[in-house]
Amino acid sequence: MSLGHISLGWNMSKLTKSMRAKAGRRAETSRQAGTRAQQKTLPRRYYTDPENFRCEMETFFYGMWVCVGRSEQLASAREFFLRDVAGESIIITRNEGGVVHAFYNVCRHRGTQLCREAEGKFAGRIQCPYHGWTYGLDGKLLGAPHMDDCGFRREEYPLYAVGAEEWAGHIFVNLAKRRDPLREQLGELPGKFAAWGMQNLRMHKRMVYDVKANWKLIVQNYNECLHCPVLHPALHRITDYLSGDNDRPQAGYIGGSMEFRSGVQTMSTDGERRRAHLPGLNEKQRRVVMYYTVYPNLFLSLHPDYVMAHTLWPQAVDRTQVICEWHFHPTEMAKVDFRADDVVEFWDQTNREDWGISELGQKGICSRAYQPGPYSPREGLPQAFDRMIVRCEKEGGRRQNQLDS
Ligand code: FES
Ligand SMILES: [Fe+2]
Repeated sequence: MSLGHISLGWNMSKLTKSMRAKAGRRAETSRQAGTRAQQKTLPRRYYTDPENFRCEMETFFYGMWVCVGRSEQLASAREFFLRDVAGESIIITRNEGGVVHAFYNVCRHRGTQLCREAEGKFAGRIQCPYHGWTYGLDGKLLGAPHMDDCGFRREEYPLYAVGAEEWAGHIFVNLAKRRDPLREQLGELPGKFAAWGMQNLRMHKRMVYDVKANWKLIVQNYNECLHCPVLHPALHRITDYLSGDNDRPQAGYIGGSMEFRSGVQTMSTDGERRRAHLPGLNEKQRRVVMYYTVYPNLFLSLHPDYVMAHTLWPQAVDRTQVICEWHFHPTEMAKVDFRADDVVEFWDQTNREDWGISELGQKGICSRAYQPGPYSPREGLPQAFDRMIVRCEKEGGRRQNQLDS
């Protein structure tokens, strides 16, 4: 198949009746998302103020479930990896019973960091490199040399645990002291995404990008395709930005689907699919790509033959590390002629276009001339995201006032 078969036009007058209806629904979703009065982009401080950034890390990265990696990174008991969550080093490990646990990387004796290696396998216990306090993989303090003669009670000094849960092969942690179960944040996503069988997929490729932009610019950009005809000519040849539907924005996530153009089979350099469909997908699911953001840091892009996952790691108010991974079915990966360069190349190029425009956004917003600009009705999801940011900020402020009074 060649791109010669693919219509390159994106004139509104060429929309079919059904596409118009869908486009109408999408605009309607945008209206439902709250554009009664025209919503504007966020003020500059949301992208430039370090104090604002600190509050956001508190609210979203210490206060919500954050995706830290994949279950396959802890394929067997005692394996571990470290994840820096907004400056907090977290140990994520699996105990002998197969349960994932997560702890602050902090010894209960004098606070020393316990682990230095980014990943590895514990020899049954976690031992502090300073005075040798040892902890079980469930965080219990097992040994503390020379502490027995001073009324010391070991059970009072377990590792500082944080919430850890798995969903569909993704591992999440939650640093909040009081937290709801992960399923509350995921809402209907587990049922909605079950057919893709993400828990069965394995990573083929990981790329890490350093983006000089605030994390929210990257979320906003991922959640609209109004920019696709201008910024992503290659992507625009594969999917029509007016196709598909958005879900009604939810408390824990936003997203929607997009349909392939005629003759296209997946998102790849030429639209051709060189791998079998993921088992379990129905006809309709084979013709779309799903783009979802699970707040605050996970983008899931579900394709007919693979899943791409981005995680966002804010480093500063104007800098974000983005990790992009491509996951495939092991049956396909085991084939001698398995290849995925068509997919990785396509998305790497698209990623770089998105990061580049996000960096330009950051630069422009820093200008003294910047004022919040009007969103279009087709930018309903970024609007919903912005409202969530502002709402959480207000709620955080109220909580702080109550604590202060
Ligand atoms: S600081 Fe960890 S054992 Fe002393
Ligand atoms: Fe984009």
